Amino acid sequence: MTDHPGHQDTPDAVPAGAPAHRSDAAETRAFHELLRGLRVWDVDLPAFDPAAAPDDPLPLFRQWLREAAEAGVPEPHTMTLATADAAGAPSVRTLMLHDADERGWHFASHRGSRKGRELAVRPRAALGFYWAAVGRQVRVHGSVTVAGPEESAADLHRRSTGALAAALVGRQSEVLGSTAELARASEAAWERARREPEAPVPSWTLYVLRAEEVEFFQGDAQRRHVRLNYRYEGDGWAKELLWP
Ligand SMILES: Cc1cc2nc3c(=O)[nH]c(=O)nc-3n(C[C@H](O)[C@H](O)[C@H](O)COP(=O)(O)O)c2cc1C
Repeated sequence: MTDHPGHQDTPDAVPAGAPAHRSDAAETRAFHELLRGLRVWDVDLPAFDPAAAPDDPLPLFRQWLREAAEAGVPEPHTMTLATADAAGAPSVRTLMLHDADERGWHFASHRGSRKGRELAVRPRAALGFYWAAVGRQVRVHGSVTVAGPEESAADLHRRSTGALAAALVGRQSEVLGSTAELARASEAAWERARREPEAPVPSWTLYVLRAEEVEFFQGDAQRRHVRLNYRYEGDGWAKELLWP
């Protein structure tokens, strides 16, 4: 099942502007063939009945995350976080989900990082989860609030020594002079994290995304994907199906 049947290629096709070396053309062709050979929704997928979905997206999200873990999806608690700068230019990166509860979806990072600076200017974000083994995607949109310093510190100190060491290194998203510089800083941070498991990291911040929309996408081999969108309407959640 190829998803881009209209795509044509010729033996000598080379992207505009690329040097016309034979090896580059072969490399480009091999890359196109690789892409065309890859499949999605080509495994047994679970059924999803949107009519039986709960009134609130949180229990469904927790259920889907648990089922992704049980299906062997690697690192199902990792997600894409999208933010935007003051001019509206978007940026994304992968983060770990720390919790999802009545307050929202929790994640943590350095306040001075690119995402931290963007969230300070524009406290809105979107999250994306994709669990290939079960053909499921979840999207969450909403406003982001900053937890207090005590809660941020408690969240960090509950985590692994490695997480504390990484946070202690700091300077996230600044330009790095050399990998040797990072190795020295990391070594010192690991040493301190082991010696002082409660070491403070003032820039480390817990964020909570309060969802305004949560969309559940269940992939289907026939492409009759089910999309169930929850919209918060002030006094409760409205549900709607979306065309795939
Ligand atoms: C699997 C994975 C998990 C990650 N988890 C986090 C995280 O929880 N917090 C974090 O600040 N960065 C995490 N990162 C690093 C971010 O993707 C990103 O490189 C970093 O936060 C800097 O992003 P920024 O420059 O957009 O602020 C993770 C990266 C990967 C690949």
